[in-house]
Amino acid sequence: MVSIIVDEKPIQAEEGANLLQVCLENGIYIPNLCFLKEMENPTASCRLCLVEVNGGDKPVTSCTTKVREGMVVRTDTPRVRHLQQIDFQLLMSAHHMDCRNCLSRKHCELQKIAKFLGIRLKPTKFEELGRDLAVLKHPLFDLLPARCILCRKCLFVCAQANNGQPLLRLVRKGYESLIEAACAGQDPEELPCKYCLACVKACPVSAIVPVPTYELEKTV
Ligand code: SF4
Ligand code: SF4
Ligand code: FES
Repeated sequence: MVSIIVDEKPIQAEEGANLLQVCLENGIYIPNLCFLKEMENPTASCRLCLVEVNGGDKPVTSCTTKVREGMVVRTDTPRVRHLQQIDFQLLMSAHHMDCRNCLSRKHCELQKIAKFLGIRLKPTKFEELGRDLAVLKHPLFDLLPARCILCRKCLFVCAQANNGQPLLRLVRKGYESLIEAACAGQDPEELPCKYCLACVKACPVSAIVPVPTYELEKTV
């Protein structure tokens, strides 16, 4: 075990443990959208989990930082908050808000983070950025690119469930990036997805919506 200090709170943790996870387990909230504790190599795609370590030159993502002896971490400096606000607003520019029709509305991570950062959420028009917003079909669920914030959690859990060979994939680049299914048109009865739907559970913004029949099977 090693000793670190986070926001003036002394914490004991395993050397090499994930800093974001250690903070969360010790009741110190850091906004995060793309991290799962099972990840050995987090993608750090949301850029929200910034912290300052030992007064370093620039904030670092806590989900890619390993705990080491004597670390002094600040999660709440003006510089961290400013960058988090910019990153969050950028991320929201790719998210079509439709809370009334969203399965996440009662446990929405975006609303939680917005409140934490003091940002008022309001609908944006991502169509102006020229993104293809058409709903994509999988035999068991719909993929809603207009809602997807490209956190990639679905890709990770799908790979985990299928021996490293995900049935979902990220295609295109930049603002045109999309998550699509590699098994469109296949017989749902022959897909491993039928009793899995890990991607549906992992998605923080309900951008993967199961076909009602399979939503029922999933919960049996
Ligand atoms: S994920 Fe988006 S649309 Fe759904 S409740 Fe949250 S802010 Fe609203
Ligand atoms: S579909 Fe959901 S889980 Fe997958 S990248 Fe988009 S927001 Fe993340
Ligand atoms: S949680 Fe660290 S970058 Fe997204």
